[in-house]
Amino acid sequence: MAKKVLSGIQPSGSLTLGNYIGAIKNFVKLQREHECYFMVVDLHAITVPQEPAALRENSESVAALYLAAGIDPKIASVYLQSHVPQHAELGWILTTLTAMGELERMTQFKDKSSGKDSVGAGLFVYPSLMAADILVYNADLVPVGEDQKQHLELTRDLAGRFNHRFGDFFTVPEPYIPEVGARIMSLDDGTKKMSKSNPNPGSYIALLDPPDVIRKKISRATTDSGREIVYDPANKPEVSNLMSIYAECSGQSLQQIADQYEGQMYGGFKKNLGELLVATLEPIQERYRDIRSSGELAGILAEGAEKAQTLASQTLAEVKKRMGFLPARG
Ligand code: TYM
Repeated sequence: MAKKVLSGIQPSGSLTLGNYIGAIKNFVKLQREHECYFMVVDLHAITVPQEPAALRENSESVAALYLAAGIDPKIASVYLQSHVPQHAELGWILTTLTAMGELERMTQFKDKSSGKDSVGAGLFVYPSLMAADILVYNADLVPVGEDQKQHLELTRDLAGRFNHRFGDFFTVPEPYIPEVGARIMSLDDGTKKMSKSNPNPGSYIALLDPPDVIRKKISRATTDSGREIVYDPANKPEVSNLMSIYAECSGQSLQQIADQYEGQMYGGFKKNLGELLVATLEPIQERYRDIRSSGELAGILAEGAEKAQTLASQTLAEVKKRMGFLPARG
C-alpha cells in the first residue's frame, strides 16, 4: 500500500555525498511507490545565523539538486518549509508537549552548541519543529541518515503523547535508514561524519565539486598504513568508508568489492572510486545547471507548497479542535 513519505534537508551550505547517499538517493527510490513530500528546511537552517543572500542561494540550490538527482516533481511534492506555515504552527504546539530534558539529551544539540558562548533557543527546540514537519502530514516513513535517528525517536514519542492526551490521531512514523551508507564518514577522519560544516573542504565531497576536485579529494583521502581492502569499520574505518561509497555508487556489495580488489593496493582502488564518483555526479551536475537556468524552479516549488498546504492545514484544524482551540469565524 502506498505510504506517506516525508523528509528534508537544510539549506545551510553545499550538499555533500553524505546527504546524497544517506538521504536523496532513497528519496528517488521511494517516490515511485509512495506519496512523497521533500522539503528544503529553511526554517531549520536559521537556528544558526544565515546571511540572507546565502540562504536564498542555498535554498534554490538544494531544491535544484533534488530535481537534478532524479526527484520528479510530477509525482513528489518539492517545496520550501517556510512556504507552508503549518510547520511553524504545529512546531509551536509540539514544543509545548516536549520536555526540556528530552531536548537536552539530543546529541545534535550537544554537538552544535558545545563550546559556544551563546546558543539560540531555536537550536534547542529544533527537534520539536522537525517532529511537526513529519506529523503535519501524518507521514508513515521518514528516509534519513543515521544521525537523525534520535530526532525520529522523539517524534514518535511526541506522536504517542499527543494521541494519549487528545485521542488517537497521529501516525507514529518509522525511520527509513539504509543499511550501507547511513553514515558516510569524513575523508580525513573515518571516525567523524562527513559534514558540510567541516572547515576542511578536503574532508567532504560536495555534490557540485568539479570532476578534478573529486578525483583529487579521493586520491588524498586518508587510509591506514595497511594494504588490504577489506570492510572492517572498527579497525579500518577510512577504507571501510571508501568501500561503502564505492558500493553505493556501483551497486556492488561490499563482499564483491573486497573480492575484486583482493591483493591490490589502495592506489588503484582509489583511482577507480574517483572515476566512479565522477560518473555518478557529473550527470547530476549537468541537470543541475539546466534546472537553475531554466527559470522553472519557482513554479515547481509553488505547486509543491500548495499540495503540501492542503494536507497540512487539514491536520492543523483537527489538532487544534482536539486541543480545545476555538475555531476562527470567517
Ligand atoms: P541535514 O540537513 O543535516 O541532512 C540531510 C540528510 O542527509 C543525511 N546525512 C547523512 N547521511 C549519511 N552520511 C552522512 N555523512 C550524512 N550527513 C547528512 C541526514 O541524516 C539527513 O537525512 N534535521 C534534519 C533535517 C530535517 C528533517 C525534517 C529530516 C528537518 N526536518 C523532517 C527528516 C524529516 C537535518 O538536519 O538534516
